[in-house]
Amino acid sequence: MKATARAHTNIALIKYWGKRDEQLFLPMNNSISITLDRFYTTTSVSFREDLSADVFVLDGKEMGGHEREKISGFLNLVRRTANHQGYAVVDSLNEVPTAAGFASSASGFAALAAASTRALNFTISNEGLSILARQGSGSASRSIYGGYAEWHKGTCQDGSDSFATQILPENAWDLSVLSVMVEARQKKVLSREGMRRTVETSPFYAGWLDSLEIDLSAARDAIHKQDFEQLGTVLERNALKMHATTFGANPPFLYWTGATIDVMQVVQELRENGVLAYFTIDAGPNVKVICQPADEQVVKDRLLELECVQDIFLCHPGPGIHYLTT
Ligand code: PMV
Repeated sequence: MKATARAHTNIALIKYWGKRDEQLFLPMNNSISITLDRFYTTTSVSFREDLSADVFVLDGKEMGGHEREKISGFLNLVRRTANHQGYAVVDSLNEVPTAAGFASSASGFAALAAASTRALNFTISNEGLSILARQGSGSASRSIYGGYAEWHKGTCQDGSDSFATQILPENAWDLSVLSVMVEARQKKVLSREGMRRTVETSPFYAGWLDSLEIDLSAARDAIHKQDFEQLGTVLERNALKMHATTFGANPPFLYWTGATIDVMQVVQELRENGVLAYFTIDAGPNVKVICQPADEQVVKDRLLELECVQDIFLCHPGPGIHYLTT
């Protein structure tokens, strides 16, 4: 009863920001992402009769405390879904620079959902996997698919219609995503807490929700037409709006550092000089710069001129979950 699955991280072009149900990870709004080729998690799960608790090994190290509890809590959900009793050994390898502040929860929970259900021989659709992964980390719902995906917020209270679907496969439209590392430290306000505080206290949150449908349809339309300028314009605007909601929270908070702003300004300056590049930022100081493959070297070289840039990881659209034979 062992299976191994690999899932890649994704970067949101239209952000998931705010939950309507914290327990079930039901979002306030739809979101749209690109799955990335370069960062992924490979997870093996084996259910064994001889265990009295779940075991979680991450990058070769056995984890305890909160980390293990999170995995065990997720496996409880899988056990309920697949109607199985018995504990498992979860062995995960992260090809994600987590120490550099890049999130691994999306690839982590997508890989765990896939490997654990496969280990139990439980037949499940991609939508079912997306629903499962969502309950580990919201953004994981999108990592089931390669290329471009949309997570539909759904309307059911039980979350049965809150899952992602693919918009375009990874080989349909190549774009370059430069993950620009300016800060290796852990983020101060985790996304869960950041979302909660913003939903509960920020007067700007209503504005975020009000303008979301426009951003979503512009992004969807741009992806279908493969119109890069349209996509870039809306993704940058959407990221700034998400961050603006945090300025209005009580107490207010800010994920950016001075270096974040330096990168943003270089991207805008590149555009003034005719190079189409756009930025997006998640719940931390690092920036993802998106451009067309023909411009990736120019963009990278210009960004590397900034002293605050510690490293740049170049990514392209990557695949959805797949199973490995071990
Ligand atoms: O699902 P989480 O906890 O990784 O939250 C993701 C939140 C953002 O990265 C800011 C936006 C997103 O849609 O990925």
